[in-house]
Formats: sequence, structure tokens, C-alpha cells
Amino acid sequence: MTEKKIIAVAGATGAQGGGLVRAILSDPSSGFTARALTRDAGSDKAKALARLGAEVVAADLDDLESMKRAFKGAYGAYCVTFFWAHFSPEKELAQATAMAQAAKHAGVQHVIWSTLEDTRKWVPLSDSRMPTLMGKYKVPHFDAKGQADQVFTELGLPVTLLLTSFYWDNFIYIGMGPKKGPDGRLAITLPMGDKKLPGIAAQDIGRCALGIFKKGRELIGKTVGIAGEHLTGAQMAAAFTKALGQEVRYNEVPPEVYRSFGFPGAEDLGNMFQFKRDFEQYFCGARNLGVARALNPSLETFDQWLARNKSRIPLE
Ligand SMILES: NC(=O)c1ccc[n+]([C@@H]2O[C@H](COP(=O)([O-])OP(=O)(O)OC[C@H]3O[C@@H](n4cnc5c(N)ncnc54)[C@H](OP(=O)(O)O)[C@@H]3O)[C@@H](O)[C@H]2O)c1
Repeated sequence: MTEKKIIAVAGATGAQGGGLVRAILSDPSSGFTARALTRDAGSDKAKALARLGAEVVAADLDDLESMKRAFKGAYGAYCVTFFWAHFSPEKELAQATAMAQAAKHAGVQHVIWSTLEDTRKWVPLSDSRMPTLMGKYKVPHFDAKGQADQVFTELGLPVTLLLTSFYWDNFIYIGMGPKKGPDGRLAITLPMGDKKLPGIAAQDIGRCALGIFKKGRELIGKTVGIAGEHLTGAQMAAAFTKALGQEVRYNEVPPEVYRSFGFPGAEDLGNMFQFKRDFEQYFCGARNLGVARALNPSLETFDQWLARNKSRIPLE
């Protein structure tokens, strides 16, 4: 029997990495085995991955030596950073650099870097349509990821750049779900006008990543963009209405109103949605539904995601 190839997965206890670890472990014929990286191998989430069959390895993105050890002997590495854990683009860039250096040191044969656009290529800092944030960013949680693409390519790594999409899971976890307005009616609030937002079930990102690894060398040196569907606010509201059995409206607000909501990251997200709205054609075009489905035939539509998750959506 041929030895299985190890895929080392950063953020294995989280959404993207967890999706990939589970996808690998539920596909015994893939030829891959999962090494789950976590800062705490004793956590409940890490133990659950071990029970599923993952090799759990302690590593911290802030500790280069631990990353070198974690990538040692691996065929593949899934690299992702965690902006919302610290709100620092500089830290994201440093952590991406550490992963790239560790992958180089370990001689990893296929790296996937979970990235997003450096929006400053479309909206330079001098463009006043949206405010510059943190001194040198337009969309802080996008820009440093896009900047880090170069770190992976300049090291000469065999890398696939994976452009991800808005998780529909945000409707469960980060307060973006339908909320009752002063009139008592439910609405989702987005500053997208009538433009389409590429979205995806978070777990499908990992499943698509497995599809990329399965392609061997074919997607090395390529950028692959994925989404489950491209939907307008009105289309998502209609899907919520159907799934929940009660009316959900689309509350369209201007980006400047969204930026002023005051929750942590509101300005960053306001700029992000404005970028997606103003560059809809590019942004949707870069996230091809057919490509995503070919990589992951079980890719969920929004209706399917809602059917699976509707009881978990808090209706405030
Ligand atoms: N929400 C969206 O719609 C969306 C869409 C596209 C892209 N993204 C991007 O996705 C990224 C986050 O990925 P995710 O959603 O998969 O994350 P997540 O679910 O929040 O999981 C984060 C995991 O990262 C691990 N972690 C945190 N800091 C670490 C460190 N210093 N070293 C090693 N591991 C660390 C934690 O694991 P342990 O505690 O076990 O170490 C945690 O389980 C963000 O950068 C975000 O911008 C989000």
C-alpha cells in the first residue's frame, strides 16, 4: 500500500481549516491524511479532530520554529491567517510570511494560501470614495492577505492562491443575520445596493481546497476563486423568507451608514462591501461557481445551506 501524503492544516480547529481536515478524513481514497495544527492540542476541538483520525500537532503562527516542525514531512500545507483574532494587517503579513518560510524550509510540495484581494490595486489610498483605515489600508482584512501573495510567490513556493468568499455562516455567528427593525419586521442589512455578493458555506472552502490538492500539480502557480452562489441582498432575503417561513426584507444601506454602525470592524466591513459592490463584475468574475463545483461536487447553494442551518440562525 502506498503511504498517504500528509496535508498540514493551519487553523484546523477553525472554519476553513476544520472544513479541510474533515474533508480529508471523510475521503479515505484521496491519498491524503490530515495533520491538524493548533495552539492547544488538549482543547475539545483538537481532541475531536484526533478522534476523527487527524494527527494533532501543536504550532503557533507567531513561532516560526514551531511552524517549521509542523510542516516537516508534509506534502501539502494549507495556510490561513486570522485577522479577526487581532485586527492587525501587519500581524497577518508576519504570520503569512512565517508560514511561507516554514513551507520553504520543509520543502512542502503544494501550498494553498487562503487569500483575498489587496483592494488598494483597485482603490488607491488617494481614492476618496472610501476612507483610508489604519493609515495605509482600504480594507485592512483583505489588503495584507493580498500583499502576502507576493511573499509566497517570491520564495518560489509551489503555491495555489485561493480566493475565498463571504461565509454564509456569518448569518449565524457574527450578528449579520435577520434582525427585527422598529416596525417588528425582520431584515438583513447590507450596503450592496442591487449588486451580487459571492457567498459560500464555510465548510465548502476546505472541501474545495481538498479538490485543489487532488489535482496534483495542475493548479500550482494559479489563482483559484470559489463561491457557492452570487446573490443580491434581495435574493438572499427571499431565500431567508422561504426557508424561515416568515418575511425577511433586504434593508439596503449606503456604505457610509454601514461604516458608522460602531461595532468592531464596522468600517473595515463597510469598505469591504463597498469594494464588492463597486467592482461587482471583477469580484464575481474572480469567483467561478463552475470551478468551485468541479473541485467540490457537494458544494452547497444558499438554499441548501439555509435548510441545514436555519434553526441555528438567531432571529433577534
Ligand atoms: N468570515 C468570512 O466571511 C470570511 C470570508 C473569507 C475569508 N475570511 C478570513 O478567514 C480567516 C479566518 O479563518 P477561519 O474563519 O477559518 O478562522 P476561525 O474559524 O476563526 O479559526 C481560527 C483558528 O485559528 C487558530 N489560530 C488563531 N491564532 C493562531 C495562531 N497564532 N497560531 C495558530 N493558530 C491560530 C485557532 O485555533 P487554536 O485556538 O486551536 O490554535 C482557531 O481555531 C480570517 O483572516 C478572515 O479574514 C473570512
